[in-house]
Amino acid sequence: MAWSATLPLTQGSARPSLEKARATWRAAFLGVRAETERRAAPLSAEDQIVQSMADASPTKWHRAHVTWFFETFLLRPHLPGYEIFDERFPFLFNSYYVAAGPRHARPQRGLITRPDSEDVLAYRAHVDAAVTRLLDSVTDEDADRVFTILEIGLHHEQQHQELILTDILHAFAQNPTDPAYDADWQPPKPAGGPRSQVAVPKGIHAIGHDTRGFSFDNESPLHDELIADVRIARHLVSNADWLAFMEAGGYETPSLWLSDGWAAAQNEGWEAPGYWRKKDGAWHVMTLGGLRPVDPAAPAMHVSYYEADAFARFAGRHLPSEAEWETAARAGLIADAFGIAWQWTRSAYLPYPGYRAPEGALGEYNGKFMVNQMVLRGSSLATPEGHERVSYRNFFYPAARWQFSGVRLAEFV
Ligand SMILES: [Fe+2]
Repeated sequence: MAWSATLPLTQGSARPSLEKARATWRAAFLGVRAETERRAAPLSAEDQIVQSMADASPTKWHRAHVTWFFETFLLRPHLPGYEIFDERFPFLFNSYYVAAGPRHARPQRGLITRPDSEDVLAYRAHVDAAVTRLLDSVTDEDADRVFTILEIGLHHEQQHQELILTDILHAFAQNPTDPAYDADWQPPKPAGGPRSQVAVPKGIHAIGHDTRGFSFDNESPLHDELIADVRIARHLVSNADWLAFMEAGGYETPSLWLSDGWAAAQNEGWEAPGYWRKKDGAWHVMTLGGLRPVDPAAPAMHVSYYEADAFARFAGRHLPSEAEWETAARAGLIADAFGIAWQWTRSAYLPYPGYRAPEGALGEYNGKFMVNQMVLRGSSLATPEGHERVSYRNFFYPAARWQFSGVRLAEFV
């Protein structure tokens, strides 16, 4: 199954006429909203309620939360006469925006059986109609502000489209009947060619977003970074590589691990990547297509930062920094940068020099999470088409392994 949603990226390009811009944004909005429903469609109402851990959210919550985002940040301030769909919903579907008011406890999202799926569908239709009205009526004066917030809302919804898949896979992985999200699902094919390492151009390189097209605030400011003599792997670490790590006792060798990583591995009982399990003596893995034999040639994924770091130490290498990764990707040196697995970097998720979170509630989007997490680069098989970017900074806590997270190695020369 190929994911398809295409956003027009008009910010920063020549300004089209208002009529043309309205039509472009209307199509973009409807396209993204339809993709969310398409991803939810294979899931029953029961599937859509479950929350398998605090970090994962129910599909129904994702569908409502992205709708709340448009209602709160676009419609209420910018559509005169907008009537809120249900006064109780902001409390239920605000995620973490303190400035937007109180909210339901995140770990308890799975307890909300009502409003039900039909209510959420009606909420989505109500907001879709209102956004369409806003686009039809927006004046030249307000257009830039409205389109800017709409664009953030669309990229936000695409992020949740990815989470719909990662979160339901985690839920299905807890189910002894090994449900398939899509029984015909096939993993993306990794690139062929020699599994070599390539030199990253050393010297000073501009890192970050160059202001053409959309970006999140955490990708700016564009700034210089010094790249040392380093080589980076063209390919992602494979399951065959990971099996060699396991067979060499990688999960039982404390000297390969960071102290926090070793503690996490012991507490969680890690002995293989996430979703791997032995069946009839052979390793299998839960995928969107259900339980499948582990393919040795496929990229390893569902590994935490701690595992990625231990693997790199085992291999006598390092994880790339995010600046090394970005420089190599911009130079076209690496295969499978996008579309298979996010790649852990050794970079902590920190503000770029001079970064300031934007004013207002939307300033909470990224900036307040810049501590204790690690950056991943690229994109994954669950990332909607058109959402990836060379400057994109994803971030997760180092023990997280429910995303499609993989490993690319680097080596200092
Ligand atoms: Fe969100």
